[in-house]
Amino acid sequence: MNTERTLLVADDNPDHRRFYRQALTPYGNVVEATNGQEALESVMQKRPDLIVLDYMMPGMSGADVLQNLRQNVTTKNLPVIVVTGVSDKESVLKLLQSGASDYVVKPVTPGKLRERVQRLLAPLDSNGGAPGAAQAPPRPPVETTKLAQDEDLLWGRRQAPAVSVEAQPPASSAVIKPARPEVPVGERILEVFTTPPNGIAELGRGQDFKDLLLADPRMSVQFVKYVNSGAFSKLDRCNDAARGAEILGPTRVAQFAVTMEMRRAWPAVPTGRLNRTRLLRHSVQTALACVQLSEIMGFCDEMYFFAGLFHDVGKIALETADPDRYRQMLEYAATQKLSELEAEQEVFGIGHPEAGGIVLTAWGVPTQIVTGAAEHEASPQGIAGHLCFLANRLAHHVDSQAAMIKKFVQEVPSDTLNALGLDEGQIIRAASLLKTAELVAIALSNHSEP
Ligand SMILES: [Fe+2]
Ligand SMILES: [Fe+2]
Repeated sequence: MNTERTLLVADDNPDHRRFYRQALTPYGNVVEATNGQEALESVMQKRPDLIVLDYMMPGMSGADVLQNLRQNVTTKNLPVIVVTGVSDKESVLKLLQSGASDYVVKPVTPGKLRERVQRLLAPLDSNGGAPGAAQAPPRPPVETTKLAQDEDLLWGRRQAPAVSVEAQPPASSAVIKPARPEVPVGERILEVFTTPPNGIAELGRGQDFKDLLLADPRMSVQFVKYVNSGAFSKLDRCNDAARGAEILGPTRVAQFAVTMEMRRAWPAVPTGRLNRTRLLRHSVQTALACVQLSEIMGFCDEMYFFAGLFHDVGKIALETADPDRYRQMLEYAATQKLSELEAEQEVFGIGHPEAGGIVLTAWGVPTQIVTGAAEHEASPQGIAGHLCFLANRLAHHVDSQAAMIKKFVQEVPSDTLNALGLDEGQIIRAASLLKTAELVAIALSNHSEP
């Protein structure tokens, strides 16, 4: 079962739900809703990657659910496949106009349904939908890619990996550690990540990112959507990128342009099962956490946003350099109950912080960014290292309740508090500011998809 994704099926008929579950289990964790109201609640709680929605349900119909989803900024782009009994042109057109991503006409067959699911899930995957996926859905051996599990070395103490019991094969001494690569992975990374993407090379050199943005039509279009996304609610609608750039100002323009360039820099290679969409969201949240914390510190440096944004780029580097070994590494981490960082070090010889440091040094970005990536997991030394160390963990707590955040804050190492000159109350404030900035995080990661 590909538990990396969650798929919601909403249908009032239990036989239909059972059928959908069987057809879709290979694509992820299937959750069910028996009516429209339940479907909406489930969307908020489970945050599915895709919905199969019966159009005709008693009470709140599929049409109502769809309308509701499309009006909500956090769900307006969520893939929804509508199951309908009508196939005439006019009804179908109406369906698509009302926001359905795709539709299946009854009677539904597993083949018809899977074909649509694959097509809609493909862009969520880093491989952009490997052609091979058309025959057989991908089946990673174990669940390992939920981002919260990625970084289970919280404050240097290992936590038991939160791998689902169902998906986890028994730990066995027979599990063979994947062999170290013949060519050191650092060399391979340098072969793959030779030149920095446009814009990223200019960081810290006074580049006007507005020019970069306006010279790139696709980026301009996405930027206008970003400005109008609802994340900046007090703004009037704007129709052109130049006006949008004026409204949001140079800092946000630079943040948008570089985030988009970073996403473009992630080559669409076959996946080692790193969920890049989720990683992008986490990276943006970490970047915003860096901004909140540094503002509270009273020490603002625009580069801290980018230090947060690039902190986990080493994961992309390791996966891109050797996708097969990366997949084996995830499997090894799960079966041996290792943190991913430990497994990376055993399997690749280096962890993702070091890998990130290699890429960013090669790209010649300012030192704050290199240090942030290289030191964010353990034993930070410099300000940028401590900042990314804390921001990364804060980003993992963006959905946590106040009590959890309080507990987390009490455990921040005193080294980090001293280095950043922060007290616990200030970190709690940063956490609440980060929550408020959630809409910006969502809009920035959605619209920076090229
Ligand atoms: Fe990390
Ligand atoms: Fe991270």
